[in-house]
Amino acid sequence: MRKHVRRFIRQLRGVNPFAGDWSPSRVPLFRFGRPSLPFPHLWNYREPLRILDTFFWAAERETNSGRHNRYLAVPGLPYVLVTREPAVIRAVLSATGDKPGQFDRDTTPTKGIARATGEDSLLYANGPLWRRQKQLAAPGFSRSNLFQPEKFHEFEQTFRKTVVQRLALLRDHLRATGQRSVRIALEPEIAVVMLEMLVNNFFGGNITDADLREQYVPALMRCIDHMVRDTIANPLRAPLDLISGRTRLLRRAHARFESLTDTALEGRASGRGLWAEFKSDASNDALRSNIRVFLAGALEATTSFASWALSHLARAPEVQARVHEEVKGIDVYDPENLEQAVTLRHVLEETLRLTPALYFLPRWTTVDTWIETADGRKLFIPERTHVVLDVWHANRCDDFWGAAVCGHPAEAFAPERWDTLAQQGRSTKEILHFGFGHGPRVCPGKYLGLLEVGLVVGAFVKLFKCTAVHAVAGARAGVSTKPADGTLVDLELR
Ligand code: HEM
Repeated sequence: MRKHVRRFIRQLRGVNPFAGDWSPSRVPLFRFGRPSLPFPHLWNYREPLRILDTFFWAAERETNSGRHNRYLAVPGLPYVLVTREPAVIRAVLSATGDKPGQFDRDTTPTKGIARATGEDSLLYANGPLWRRQKQLAAPGFSRSNLFQPEKFHEFEQTFRKTVVQRLALLRDHLRATGQRSVRIALEPEIAVVMLEMLVNNFFGGNITDADLREQYVPALMRCIDHMVRDTIANPLRAPLDLISGRTRLLRRAHARFESLTDTALEGRASGRGLWAEFKSDASNDALRSNIRVFLAGALEATTSFASWALSHLARAPEVQARVHEEVKGIDVYDPENLEQAVTLRHVLEETLRLTPALYFLPRWTTVDTWIETADGRKLFIPERTHVVLDVWHANRCDDFWGAAVCGHPAEAFAPERWDTLAQQGRSTKEILHFGFGHGPRVCPGKYLGLLEVGLVVGAFVKLFKCTAVHAVAGARAGVSTKPADGTLVDLELR
């Protein structure tokens, strides 16, 4: 109790609570001229990137550690630390886990996700429950499991068949119009392919294209959209939702989500899809929340990733032509072929850097915590601090990714920067963009996701040439980021 009173007084007096080899600078609660208030509320929660922009407003005027590390202190509430410094992000991610004194994943910004998927999932759980869920659910997705040659080929073939079939439908549609090109928003098409790969190929389900397109993708998108709203605005908006009929639509969407989860689990008894590899006596009920997270989370993240990749390529005709040169002879998307397709690999890497699906990674200190960066700086973060690892701004900051570092401005889409870095002898292990996270809570679906997105982007560029309708790619952000225009392109057959 005395500790809390002392902290309250220190907050009132404006004492900087951080210590060691840094001094994050304080962001005032109110100030004119900034993009937004530095916290989510009913009128800005749909624009989380603007809230993060606010933290780094006028940061270029600072030369010390406050340039990349900022905090909010409101007396009586936990501190909020926002960092866009890769060395700090890496140190925090490495020290996240279930050991005493390590960071938890902060569950405050994902309360809506937990209400829709369950609190015991690998994504939401902390401490021993997280460890148990990781041991249960993560091995099936590991590189060593997924990339065993015979297993890999089986998946690659079914994935490829799905992608080629869907793209053929699009091609036939284009031919049927008799026009040279057709204007289309790619994101909904990508979402259908991604969900089909997950449910039918991965979990051994058998849902038709029409049902995926008309029933399941819209239902999941509604649930995912509601997760953000539910985190911030629901208690205030619930009565309005009831009157407007939104609640009824949402209930229907949740019922569809549940039936999709049932379909995914049904394959377990007969060992369909990847279930054949899953050796555990855990009950279906114990797995249910993880399956929901895999369905909604993987759909959202892979759709974001592939939409951004095509959105960037649609604005970079020369890069698109280079990728086409590489993939026109590729029929099988195995690790060796992908290794040869250097431009495609760099396009995927650059996409995750410039437009990461998960734009911030939330952490929480349960106790007073010291971290150490790779260059030996020791940094103190007090107990009960929300730590926001702002990957979006870290990856767009010229100090870390600009022309002086890798030959191109940080905000430009430039897959060539990865050649420059390789020539400098710097590997992707050393210079991190955190697109799949890092450390103990790194994404378990990384290799599956890379396989799916590599396949979709490669197969797409092989068949079509696309040109963006709008010159600039704006971003919208919710659970993940997506191109604001739904990846609206003019599509031409090659
Ligand atoms: C290809 C697109 C994907 C991207 C960009 C992506 C990104 C990420 C990131 C950045 C994290 C770390 C979050 C954090 O540290 O707070 C994460 C965690 C996670 N991802 Fe992915 N992901 C993708 C695909 C998938 C797939 C396909 C699955 C499952 C089928 C999946 C399941 C998960 C789970 C369960 C976690 C939580 C892990 C834990 O906390 O231990 N992701 N993902």
